[in-house]
Amino acid sequence: MRRQPFVAGNWKMNGGLAANAALLKALLQGLGAADAVEVAICVPYPYLDQVSRLLRDTPITLGAQDLSPHTAGAHTGEVSAFMLADFDCRYVIVGHSERRISHHESDDLVAEKFGAARAAGMIPVLCLGETLEERRADATLEVVFRQLDAVLSRHGVTALAEAVLAYEPVWAIGAGRTAKPEEAGIVHRALRQRVAKEDLAAAADLRIIYGGSVKADNAAALFAQPDIDGGLVGGASLDADEFLAICRAGFGKRTT
Ligand code: PGA
Repeated sequence: MRRQPFVAGNWKMNGGLAANAALLKALLQGLGAADAVEVAICVPYPYLDQVSRLLRDTPITLGAQDLSPHTAGAHTGEVSAFMLADFDCRYVIVGHSERRISHHESDDLVAEKFGAARAAGMIPVLCLGETLEERRADATLEVVFRQLDAVLSRHGVTALAEAVLAYEPVWAIGAGRTAKPEEAGIVHRALRQRVAKEDLAAAADLRIIYGGSVKADNAAALFAQPDIDGGLVGGASLDADEFLAICRAGFGKRTT
C-alpha cells in the first residue's frame, strides 16, 4: 500500500516491565481497525525482548530509538542494527533531536546510522527539524534540507525506498506546543519536493510524518494536511487512550 498512514510511539527513556505490559494490553484491546494505519512502538533497549514477545502476531510493529553505526566489535555501550533485528525490530529512529543535541550527533553520524539500519534490513525513521532560533532566523528549510542531504549524498535517493522521514521542529518537542498544521504542511511539502527533484516516484511513495507534541486533540488537523502521513508521538504514546485516539486520527487519511 502506498503511503499507508503511520503512527509511531516513541517511549523515550520511559517504561518498566509492569507498566509496559499494561500499556500494551490496553493498546492491543483498543486497536480495532488497525489495517488502515500502521502503528509502531519504539521502546528502550532493555525492553525489546519483553515488548517483542508481547507484540508477536499483533498488528503493532516494534521499533528502537537509536542504533550504533558499527556492526560489531569494541564499541562499549553500543547496540548494532543486527542486534535490534534479532528482536524483530522493523523500525529504528535515527537523528532524533534529543540525540543530535544532547549527544552531539552530527549529520554525518546520523547518515552513517541510517546506512547501518538499511544494511540490516530495518527501516530508519529519519528525524529532521529546526530549533527555535533557526526558525526565527527563517532557516527552517535550509536546516531540514541539510539534514536530509547528508543522507542523500551518502546513500542516494534509493535508500529512501521504504524509509520514513519525521519532521520534528525542536521547539515543539515535549513543549505542549505544536507547529500549526499549515506551517508543518509547508515543510512536509518542501521535503517531498526536494526528494522529487531526485526521483519523482520515490517522493510520491515516501512517508513523511510529523512529530512534536502530537496529541489526541490536534492529530486529526495535522494528519489532514496532504503531505503529513502520520505522527511520531512522544509523551502521548505513554497514555493508551491518548495514543489510540491519535492512531484513529490516522484512519481518515487516504490509503492508496
Ligand atoms: P513529544 O515527542 O510528542 O513528547 O513532543 C515527540 C518526539 O520527540 O518524538
